[in-house]
Amino acid sequence: MIERIITERLILRKPVIEDKTEVFHSYASDPVVTKYMMWEPLTELPQAEVFIKRCIESWDSGKEFSFVIAKRENSRIIGMIRLGVNGKTGDFGYVFDKNEWGKGYATEALKTILRIALEAFPGLMEISGICDIENTASARVMEKAGLCFTGIVRARSFRPNMPKNPRDDNVYSIRRSQFESAIRKS
Ligand SMILES: CC(C)(COP(=O)(O)OP(=O)(O)OC[C@H]1O[C@@H](n2cnc3c(N)ncnc32)[C@H](O)[C@@H]1OP(=O)(O)O)[C@@H](O)C(=O)NCCC(=O)NCCS
Repeated sequence: MIERIITERLILRKPVIEDKTEVFHSYASDPVVTKYMMWEPLTELPQAEVFIKRCIESWDSGKEFSFVIAKRENSRIIGMIRLGVNGKTGDFGYVFDKNEWGKGYATEALKTILRIALEAFPGLMEISGICDIENTASARVMEKAGLCFTGIVRARSFRPNMPKNPRDDNVYSIRRSQFESAIRKS
């Protein structure tokens, strides 16, 4: 898997341990950002180190690739996006510093990850994403990136920062053929 990708406004790259401080402060310790995540906000810097180490190690599996996302203009880390690949199917997740929401960054990053995933894994046929049923911003990102709503899975996810669990998820997906035909039209 390619370890560094430059988009119009962003740099997506394999994390290094030194990213821990920026990751911790920019989003991972923020309870507003983590509201719909499947993990609780980090409270201490060493937790960010453990997290980044796990991200780096998972690259070696050849199935899980987490990219830190930095702004091209100043190299500041503003989020992270993860791609998982398991045979014919893939999945992803993303999270951004709340000061950077609403600027199209998540959509830009997701479109890029879909493209590089399908390029790097010729056997990958479908990529899906889930979000909490109330996470309208995340659902909108998936729609803008070209994924289709495929349904609701009831009582599927445990989200520790939400009051009632387990939670219902919205599921979105895109097939290789849909992605390629969208590229041809653009
Ligand atoms: C979800 C998240 C990644 C979106 O990032 P972002 O960079 O703001 O996304 P974009 O700017 O590309 O697009 C966001 C879209 O959602 C829309 N949106 C934002 N909040 C919304 C809300 N409460 N209701 C409806 N739409 C909303 C925006 O208007 C925008 O759509 P538009 O371009 O049609 O106007 C960001 O909010 C985030 O990090 N949230 C916390 C972590 C998280 O929930 N991750 C997803 C887990 S599944």
